[in-house]
Amino acid sequence: MRADLLVIGSGIAGLFVALQAHERGARVLVVTKSAIDEASTRYAQGGISAAIGPGDSPELHLRDTIEAGAGLVDAAAARVLVEEAAGRIADLGGYGVRFDEAEGEAALGKEGAHSTRRVLRARGDQTGLEIELSLSSLVQREGITVLEHALAERLIVAGGRAIGADVLCADDGARLRCEADTVVLATGGAGQVYRVTTNPPIATGDGIALAFRAGAEVQDMEFTQFHPTALRLPGQPSFLISEAVRGEGALLFDTAGRRFMADLDPAAELAPRNIVALAELAQMRATGSDHVLLDITHREASWLAARFPNIYRTCLAAGLDMARDRIPVSPAAHYTMGGVRTDTWGRTTLPGLYAVGEVTCTGVHGANRLASNSLLESVVFAHRLVDALYGGPLPEGEREPPTLSEDACTLDAAAAGPASKAPSREDVRALMWSEAGLEREGPRLGTAATQLAAWERALPDPRTREEHEVASLLTCGRLITEAALLREESRGAHYRRDFPEQRPEWRHRLVFRALA
Ligand code: FAD
Ligand code: SIN
Repeated sequence: MRADLLVIGSGIAGLFVALQAHERGARVLVVTKSAIDEASTRYAQGGISAAIGPGDSPELHLRDTIEAGAGLVDAAAARVLVEEAAGRIADLGGYGVRFDEAEGEAALGKEGAHSTRRVLRARGDQTGLEIELSLSSLVQREGITVLEHALAERLIVAGGRAIGADVLCADDGARLRCEADTVVLATGGAGQVYRVTTNPPIATGDGIALAFRAGAEVQDMEFTQFHPTALRLPGQPSFLISEAVRGEGALLFDTAGRRFMADLDPAAELAPRNIVALAELAQMRATGSDHVLLDITHREASWLAARFPNIYRTCLAAGLDMARDRIPVSPAAHYTMGGVRTDTWGRTTLPGLYAVGEVTCTGVHGANRLASNSLLESVVFAHRLVDALYGGPLPEGEREPPTLSEDACTLDAAAAGPASKAPSREDVRALMWSEAGLEREGPRLGTAATQLAAWERALPDPRTREEHEVASLLTCGRLITEAALLREESRGAHYRRDFPEQRPEWRHRLVFRALA
């Protein structure tokens, strides 16, 4: 198949690019490995940030974003993010997304590390569902070609340029070659690398692995955000309890009944996620429990059911009434701050290959993402990507110079330990959770890196979707672990027990590139 633009992935980033490129007259082909509306986007709860409220400004939003990112935010990219936010919210409205209102204005919520209310939401706590369904139905109404259940298994590179992808069609196992003038990766994050995650099963980091293997640079992989409040019930998958619940006054207690955040941070329960998650871990250890408790019982059931319909319903189905019961929660892997390096026009370091959304590292999140900045990042940089491709010449300067210094790194093929049998998905996820999770230590990271490298060598050439996804998890797991091992400090979401302090000499990025 041939198109002007091949978009891989159908979350907010891929669908937004597809719609905007289609408006500019491009022939767009979207390939996506599940149904069109299955993506992390669908599960987003809290909302999308934009400085549109009274007393707010892009400058304040920028300040909060930089503060949360712990010294690694690319300030120029973050400025683009906050200044273009309002325009992209208007675009979403034009595509049929209906945000919740209060007294005729956009209702604005608060989340951790935001200095004011600036989070727009839809359907209470189902912002992502509203966005995903609005965009995917519009893509279908516009007649944009979409191949569902089609997994991109390899990028095709010719003459040093990405020209397409080989695609595995799940329906019949057929292989298809899709070629295009430009390829856009919009494949989302890698939360499934960890055994405990809020992310849906599609989030296996395929795009990061595809780009890395094709020769594009990948950066900041040591920074995974762990969300402090995933519902913790025996035998049940993690379900996110939005930070917006704490934004509406919920408090955290340990299982001995002690409120612990107020003593630890001036922002208490709304401190940055890494601080809350580590504090929970300490309390869980101290009390010998696998969870802490979230309490919003000061709110009426009717208020909770209207403000958080999905969360309220899910808790009720699990036998918990948020208006009466404290909710057991614990940290879970939530967001991949690192990814495929792009400039602010979506360009990767491989000609012909663009990327957008959680698969990327634009530098706007630094070492710790400000809540609700990721849906925003997807639409802001999707819009610019389409502008770069179809909007005439870009301003002079082409690629912006990096604002932070960087170290060039590779994955050492010889690092593998003794021969090993090929791992299962669960082997990789369990190892990453126990050895490269919320708390890290050099020797354990080193052992994990060796095991991952041995597993990578033992992996047969992937043929099925499962085999491809395990290979992606392994590549992402290795990148995370090697980067975490190199970074001998604690910064943002990366916490090393053996290097608990932030160190000024580490204020630079780790950039990985495959050996040629
Ligand atoms: P996704 O939405 O994950 O889409 C990726 C797409 O790529 C999917 O369609 C997938 O099937 C496809 N794909 C992947 N690999 C392949 C392949 N090899 N071949 C073909 N297709 C492929 N962010 C916020 O800003 N606000 C929030 O309130 C918020 N809440 C969240 C709640 C939860 C539970 C989760 C998990 C995340 C939340 N986030 C939130 C983060 C945010 O949802 C994501 O960062 C964002 O939706 C990512 O969008 P995306 O389009 O980049 O990726
Ligand atoms: C949440 O609703 O807590 C998630 C928000 C986010 O990750 O941006």
